Amino acid sequence: MKPDLQSPSALGQGVVLATPRMVLRAVVERDILQLHRKVFSVPDVMIWAFGGEVLSFAETERFIHARFNFDAAPTGLCVLADRASDEVIGLAGLTPCHALADDDLEFGFVFSRDAWGRGLATEIGRAQIALGFEQLGRTRMLALVSTQNAASIRALEKSPYAMRFGGDTAGPQSAAGLRRGRRGLATPARP
Ligand SMILES: CC(C)(COP(=O)(O)OP(=O)(O)OC[C@H]1O[C@@H](n2cnc3c(N)ncnc32)[C@H](O)[C@@H]1OP(=O)(O)O)[C@@H](O)C(=O)NCCC(=O)NCCS
Repeated sequence: MKPDLQSPSALGQGVVLATPRMVLRAVVERDILQLHRKVFSVPDVMIWAFGGEVLSFAETERFIHARFNFDAAPTGLCVLADRASDEVIGLAGLTPCHALADDDLEFGFVFSRDAWGRGLATEIGRAQIALGFEQLGRTRMLALVSTQNAASIRALEKSPYAMRFGGDTAGPQSAAGLRRGRRGLATPARP
């Protein structure tokens, strides 16, 4: 399932990238309530994401305004929407990562509960790696994952690129959102 890596304008306004089943697009105000209901207020979804705590609606609004992309920049957290219906199904995005060096990019994904188990993390993970390598000229992409998050590790393992797991990034650099559990570092590299 190859992602579309045309220019964002060819994909539609606000779209950063598209896969067969999803678009990764800039957030708009009407997405905030959906993201809150489906992601930020749901314990099962938040357990491995952003520090592991659910957020109030006011905290969700502040978080999204501070951390999400309101334009179609290739980096920054964005909304994941169903490609056919534009229904919000989660979030993803490339963000600066300082776990190994100052200028790495990390990719990540968080899905609403009803979107789990359909291979969507695998699909958007591959697309984000391709965006980093093919459009942004990156030679490595990082993913931070709890060593207890078996589903996420499995999705990363299914990447077409060689995957190296190692390290425990718990420490000052992880204080921003990686409080719960030990974090392993997955580094997909070109084969
Ligand atoms: C983790 C998450 C992203 C996975 O999304 P997903 O779309 O269901 O993942 P995929 O279907 O692409 O792949 C998951 C794989 O893990 C496997 N899996 C699921 N639960 C598992 C478990 N408890 N133990 C081992 N493997 C598991 C699935 O069977 C699948 O592997 P397979 O295709 O070989 O059968 C999703 O559950 C989620 O958003 N969780 C909450 C937030 C989160 O943890 N985000 C990641 C932070 S790093």
